[in-house]
Amino acid sequence: MPVKLGVGMLGYGFMGKAHTNALKKIPYIFYPFPAEPELVTICGRNEANVREAAARYQYQKWTTDWQEMIADEDIHIFANTGANDIHCEPCLAALKAGKHVIVEKPMALNLVEARRMYQAAREAGGRGQKHIVAFNYRFAPALRLARRIIAEGRLGRIYHFRSAYLLDRLSDPTTSFFWRLSKEKAGSGALGDLNSHAIDMLRFLLQTEVKSVQAWNHTFNCRRPNGSGQMCTVDVDDASMIWLQLDNGAMASLEASKVATGYKTMWRIEVHGSEGGLVFDLSRGNELQFYSKGDPLYLQGMRTIHASEPEAHDYAKYWWPRGHNLGWEHYHIHMLEHFLRCIATGAEVTPWGATFADGLRCQEVIEAALEASEKGGWVDINHWV
Ligand SMILES: NC(=O)c1ccc[n+]([C@@H]2O[C@H](COP(=O)([O-])OP(=O)(O)OC[C@H]3O[C@@H](n4cnc5c(N)ncnc54)[C@H](O)[C@@H]3O)[C@@H](O)[C@H]2O)c1
Repeated sequence: MPVKLGVGMLGYGFMGKAHTNALKKIPYIFYPFPAEPELVTICGRNEANVREAAARYQYQKWTTDWQEMIADEDIHIFANTGANDIHCEPCLAALKAGKHVIVEKPMALNLVEARRMYQAAREAGGRGQKHIVAFNYRFAPALRLARRIIAEGRLGRIYHFRSAYLLDRLSDPTTSFFWRLSKEKAGSGALGDLNSHAIDMLRFLLQTEVKSVQAWNHTFNCRRPNGSGQMCTVDVDDASMIWLQLDNGAMASLEASKVATGYKTMWRIEVHGSEGGLVFDLSRGNELQFYSKGDPLYLQGMRTIHASEPEAHDYAKYWWPRGHNLGWEHYHIHMLEHFLRCIATGAEVTPWGATFADGLRCQEVIEAALEASEKGGWVDINHWV
């Protein structure tokens, strides 16, 4: 019999929808599955909106009080898809209350919060509770394949990791102010929102740590109107560039921008080693480009691998017949499948999923990038644990 896992969801926006969508699909796509998620309660601040969201997503209950939700014994998993300033305290409370916790990225608003969250998760882990940070791209078929190719040594000694995560959502200076543009609510801008994914992906793919960081975070549009036309100060970056020295001796550069006019969501990752190279482009997410110096000279060149095929990806067998593509939503579905399966079977969340330890590592780099951008020069990462 599958174990029933009641879910309490904080947030009903973009990510609340992505997580709920995943929870609904998992039992029938991955059938037979060891867990049966139950949509118990959804929480938000606005009563009318959260009531509507509960009806639309089919949660049994709704509330505007996350503490009440966390105290509910019918809830086994607390899913935190709220804005960044509401990650820490509810996660700490949920871990204390014995819940398994999934939190959206970046895990915390700052390093102080991240350390508290990591500590609480470590203690909860000792009591059998699972925790995961929603770095969903770890569950993209092509990026899972990239990790395997690198781990098999097919790229040889790694020289470069390069990421460009570019959007144009803020390129219009009149775009309204919202929570992501406030340091108090978001922590940072393109850095924490987009480059957090790149930092985690770098660690996931190369299985190395960041040693030292140089950065330039910049705000192009410092004032924006809010919904009622009042001008508000933007105190986070629109764009972030980071240079990183890695423990494995490689160089990395991570560029993230929300003012990259013409790009909706463009994420390109390139890895170069002594024996080959890899390219991932989110807009062609089913494919991975791979170059091998081991090929005969007359055949050398980037080849395109269809990464959603069963030979390339261990989730493929659950989906469609060969050649039928997967998309962005599937990364969230795979991530939640992994998390629920780990809870039901006791398997480890790491290395496929990002635990709160990975969330802390990412926050260390974000904090160092903030410091480096302010002071200039290299900032070393001093790992807390
Ligand atoms: N993994 C990804 O690919 C990805 C993509 C987008 C966003 N995110 C992350 O997901 C989180 C949410 O982002 P989003 O785009 O869904 O935002 P959103 O604005 O669409 O939704 C935020 C939700 O948080 C709720 N909320 C905010 N403050 C609250 C409070 N004090 N109490 C209760 N509810 C509160 C809001 O009601 C809303 O439902 C952020 O941490 C963001 O960085 C991750």
